[in-house]
Amino acid sequence: MRAFQSLIAMVLLASLLLIFLSTLHLEKTHSHRPEQREIRTHKTAAEKYNTTTTPFTKQMSITSPRHEFLDLSISHGLTQAIPQNKAFWNRLLYSAVERVEKQDFVQHPLWSNCRQVNQERLKTNIHDFTSYPSVFQDFLTGMNCRSPPLVVNQPNKCLSSDAGDDPTFLLFAIKSRPGNFEQRQSVRETWGRERVFQTDLRVRTLFLLGKSSPNEPDIGALLSLEAETYKDILQWDFNESLLNLTLKMTAFLQWTLKNCPHVFFLFSGDDDVFVNTPALLSYLQALEPSKASELFVGHVISTAVPLRDSKSKYYIPLSFYDGPYPSYIGGGGFVISGSLLPRLYSISHVIPFFPIDDVYTGMCLKALGVSPEPHPGFQTFDVTEQGRENLCVHKGLILIHQRSPSELKKLWKGIHSPLLTC
Ligand SMILES: *[C@@H]1O[C@H](CO)[C@@H](O)[C@H](O)[C@H]1NC(C)=O
Ligand SMILES: *[C@@H]1O[C@H](CO)[C@@H](O)[C@H](O)[C@H]1NC(C)=O
Repeated sequence: MRAFQSLIAMVLLASLLLIFLSTLHLEKTHSHRPEQREIRTHKTAAEKYNTTTTPFTKQMSITSPRHEFLDLSISHGLTQAIPQNKAFWNRLLYSAVERVEKQDFVQHPLWSNCRQVNQERLKTNIHDFTSYPSVFQDFLTGMNCRSPPLVVNQPNKCLSSDAGDDPTFLLFAIKSRPGNFEQRQSVRETWGRERVFQTDLRVRTLFLLGKSSPNEPDIGALLSLEAETYKDILQWDFNESLLNLTLKMTAFLQWTLKNCPHVFFLFSGDDDVFVNTPALLSYLQALEPSKASELFVGHVISTAVPLRDSKSKYYIPLSFYDGPYPSYIGGGGFVISGSLLPRLYSISHVIPFFPIDDVYTGMCLKALGVSPEPHPGFQTFDVTEQGRENLCVHKGLILIHQRSPSELKKLWKGIHSPLLTC
């Protein structure tokens, strides 16, 4: 009997091992598959948006393969902007550049053991590692952790209710914190309300959350109720924190490629901004197809340098990163073409994580050779004091940073008032 049991156990083990090996093999062949640019005609989608005035039909008839790792390269724009020197991240970047030239991609470790990587390695590579703030040490320890498990999912988000072809024109992906119930509700009731504009421009909304710390009150039951009621919450199993926003962004890209692969535009932003959704849609709709398919638009920050004050929330130690930041777009709110997302996700596996998410996104797009497009309607730093109360100022803008939940409601109502004459 004993022998029989161990035989069974061995057979089980062997088959598990086989399954494991075959998945490894699959992933490998998958990641090395050269890009096959398959151009399909998406008749229904094209017809659906076939308004004679918009140039969209052209762009929409091209669907790129969104699920594959494409043949990658890192554009010179990025290496021109970031110096090669002794700082840890700079060294990581340049070794990534070398690997990409050899098309030698490393697999990231599994989520379950990605943190066990050597603190030792960090200590030998960064001479003053132990003097880094503890959140920064945390960031470095988890820097190769890439695929956090989802705890709240919305797999049906982009499926249509009436089985018709129902692509998402604009997907609002809003970075939120678990406790920000009011902010989310005011976004839902104003600019982020899901609906169809101008008969066929469908807008969908998701809030992206990590987990609140075990030291905070347990709001799990409230969140479940919220997710159940509004079906717009995504939550991953990682600690919500500023330095984890890069992880949130890439986890969301992965989610989008799987669950909403046909979005035309993705908005990424904070839950305390005001977005003039009709103005944003008009802008997007009027774009030339060539621009619409490679768009990265918002408030461009082109001469930023790392902050070296260790008390700043955006502190970057010199031994970690040395150089200016390549131009990027303020993370309060920007828009990216859906057709860029597969390449953006792929390149994010090659470019080492950077602790500031908008700087990181800018680096990745620069690596793809996509330049950020400045737009004066995106005010991530805020309008002047007089402008704050002025509805006409808001009506002419696309995005304004930092508004409270009640200000959002007031502004939204105000710019829609028929009595407003600007
Ligand atoms: C999240 O942060 C808390 C402290 O705030 C820590 O105890 C816990 O281990 C962290 N979770 C993970 C998965 O690192
Ligand atoms: C990010 O999340 C992971 C997993 O929960 C956690 O261990 C880590 O401490 C977080 N990072 C920061 C910088 O808070």
